[in-house]
Amino acid sequence: MAENKTPDFCVYDGSDYQKAFWDDANRAYEDRSEDIAFKKLLPKSGKRMLEIGAGAGRNTPRYSGYEKIYLFDYALTQMQQAKQRLGESDRLVYAAADVYHLPYNDNVFDGATMIRVIHHLSEIDPAMAEIQRVLEKDAVFILEFANKRNVKAILRWLTGKQKWNPFTKEQVEFVKLNYDNHPETIKETLEAHGFTIDRALSVSNLRIGALKNNPKNLDWMLKAENVLQDVLSGVKLSPSVFLKCTQTTGTHYDPNAPVFKCPACGSIHLIESKEAMSCPDCGRVYPIVDGIYNFRLE
Ligand SMILES: C[S@@+](CC[C@H](N)C(=O)[O-])C[C@H]1O[C@@H](n2cnc3c(N)ncnc32)[C@H](O)[C@@H]1O
Repeated sequence: MAENKTPDFCVYDGSDYQKAFWDDANRAYEDRSEDIAFKKLLPKSGKRMLEIGAGAGRNTPRYSGYEKIYLFDYALTQMQQAKQRLGESDRLVYAAADVYHLPYNDNVFDGATMIRVIHHLSEIDPAMAEIQRVLEKDAVFILEFANKRNVKAILRWLTGKQKWNPFTKEQVEFVKLNYDNHPETIKETLEAHGFTIDRALSVSNLRIGALKNNPKNLDWMLKAENVLQDVLSGVKLSPSVFLKCTQTTGTHYDPNAPVFKCPACGSIHLIESKEAMSCPDCGRVYPIVDGIYNFRLE
């Protein structure tokens, strides 16, 4: 990564992702498969959860064991939709910024998730470094990634329908700013940033149009999915993989330290007013829009 250059990622400003991709589309099987995975991986309770790339908050209600949830997304409009869907609450804190410049202090969170986001990042290493920084020692991180080495990709490659090799470790951009990652590369990157992988789940194992299109199949598909998530976790040939990781570096959270930090200069001395967060050290002013902290560096 060149110095000061933010790696490319997919921008969701103005997107109707929640409605178009979930609410109006045939994805009950995927959504409920993820719910099953969360139930297996999420700790029963926690203090401060960071939801990275939260979108419109589809997963947020699943973090019910956490005292406070910090929703975070680059797209201010996604945060606005999330706030509209989830409502106003002291438990929910909304912020817009990019994952390469997290506007949070070091060692703040004891939990974080990043679901359906890493496949939009052109570089995963600097994102992982930021996540490592904001997590306290022993924090739990649940990461979902789109698996390059999935059965469909393997079959397409073997039959000549796809040029890229699903077994090689580099990420593949299958559509502009949409990347599949190899399980080994994800593992190596996590480990390089102090994470241990405690459990893996193979998710959305039955993502097959012919099955999903008949709503009568949903019940048995989810029962099978529940079993397959664990049985196939070792081979990791599914389109989606969930990992439960623990952060081994850093220190424990200091309750007297501020939560936010200037994403431009790193100062933790931000001054909050009704309308904005101001940084006395670099002079930047970050507006608070509809109760959402806008830390985007534009
Ligand atoms: C496919 S959506 C997933 C939303 C949500 N996690 C879910 O599973 O429903 C991807 C989200 O990641 C966000 N995103 C992508 N790149 C990002 C980045 N570099 N920093 C912060 N958010 C990012 C997008 O704005 C978008 O809301």
